[in-house]
Amino acid sequence: MTVLYYNCSEIIQVEDAGRIYKRGEEMKDVAILHDAWMLVSDGKISAIGEGSYEHLNFEESINMKGQKLMPSFVDSHSHLVYAANREDEFAMRLAGKSYAEIAAAGGGILNSAAKMQLASEDELLEAAKSRLDALIKMGTGAIEIKSGYGLNQSAELKMLKVIRRLQAESPVSIKSTFLGAHAIPEAYKGKVDDYIDLVIDEMLPAVVEESLADYIDVFCEDGYFNLSQSMRVLEAAKAYGLPAKVHVNQFNSLGAIKPMVDLGAVSLDHLEVMNEEEIKYLAESQTIATALPGCSLFLDIPYTPGRQLIDQGAALALATDLNPGSAPSGNMALMIGLACSQMKLRTEEALVAATLNGAAAMELSEELGSLEIGKWANFIVIPSEFSMASIPYHMGHNLISEVYLKGEKVV
Ligand code: NIG
Ligand code: FE
Repeated sequence: MTVLYYNCSEIIQVEDAGRIYKRGEEMKDVAILHDAWMLVSDGKISAIGEGSYEHLNFEESINMKGQKLMPSFVDSHSHLVYAANREDEFAMRLAGKSYAEIAAAGGGILNSAAKMQLASEDELLEAAKSRLDALIKMGTGAIEIKSGYGLNQSAELKMLKVIRRLQAESPVSIKSTFLGAHAIPEAYKGKVDDYIDLVIDEMLPAVVEESLADYIDVFCEDGYFNLSQSMRVLEAAKAYGLPAKVHVNQFNSLGAIKPMVDLGAVSLDHLEVMNEEEIKYLAESQTIATALPGCSLFLDIPYTPGRQLIDQGAALALATDLNPGSAPSGNMALMIGLACSQMKLRTEEALVAATLNGAAAMELSEELGSLEIGKWANFIVIPSEFSMASIPYHMGHNLISEVYLKGEKVV
């Protein structure tokens, strides 16, 4: 089936030169086609252009009535599968307790892990599906989802199976990450190396055996896993062919940036706390730097130095970190708004970070993340009175009138 979308006042493409990500200065290039059309064959973009479309062959044509098309958002870091919200902990923070104090008292990730043990695969799937539906309406067309609230083999596998089922049932492109080393279970307090052994010797082989993960992740942080424990997990997973996407430098720098870049991490995420040397090393590497501004907003911690990273040449991505403890918003338009107002990105840079560079952080940028010939027709439509700049300006207000995934209208 070939469908023509015509009468688009703008098609905001993000990329037109086949680059798999944009770094530094390139992040300011966002090509815009005016008076434009796009041809979609079997879910993929087969032609795109301005002006006359008389020469094209198609079976159906859709008049977009002057609306604007842009690529769907790519959320390259989320914890979408979880058992319960944690409003109670938010109330505790409002009453003066810190995130670290709540975690130390058995709240935080351990609270989510306790609830995870009791939830069935079907319940988790239903809850995740309804969250994902809400994200689709806000323009998310691809998402990475982590385990990490199981913290034992059966519950970690349960989470990963839910992610695989979502993948099979959803029009959204999904990648899955094994985060067994997300927090230290109560029974392993003071015996953290034993937990790392369990992750490496038992959980990881089981995850690999059932092909349940595309990536490995670790929470490398004081009170969680130190650098050498983190590296052990990443190296073991690398030997099985799982590349790394890692939680680093959220509250403290443990010196992880250089060794993890050298290991070949696909992305390093959080990065709220970075020194000059780390910014430079990451900015000059092939690893995507992923900022999670919703977490900074919600926990009231510093924002990732996105401006400095881009100025020094980094490929920066933006993601939501959607999770019940530190980042309850899955709204990518809000992340773009925060990146502009708080991290001092230009609209173009934030848009590239939330689309093409996010896709690169999931190794999907050859098939989505921009509106280019050969890629999936994953796009959102905004009414003609709005522009690209309206997205950060409206700070998370949903401006989207229609959503298409793989050429199918889903909203
Ligand atoms: O990315 N930093 C580690 N993990 C999550 C938070 C998890 C939670 O509080 O439930 C994050 O912020
Ligand atoms: Fe996270």
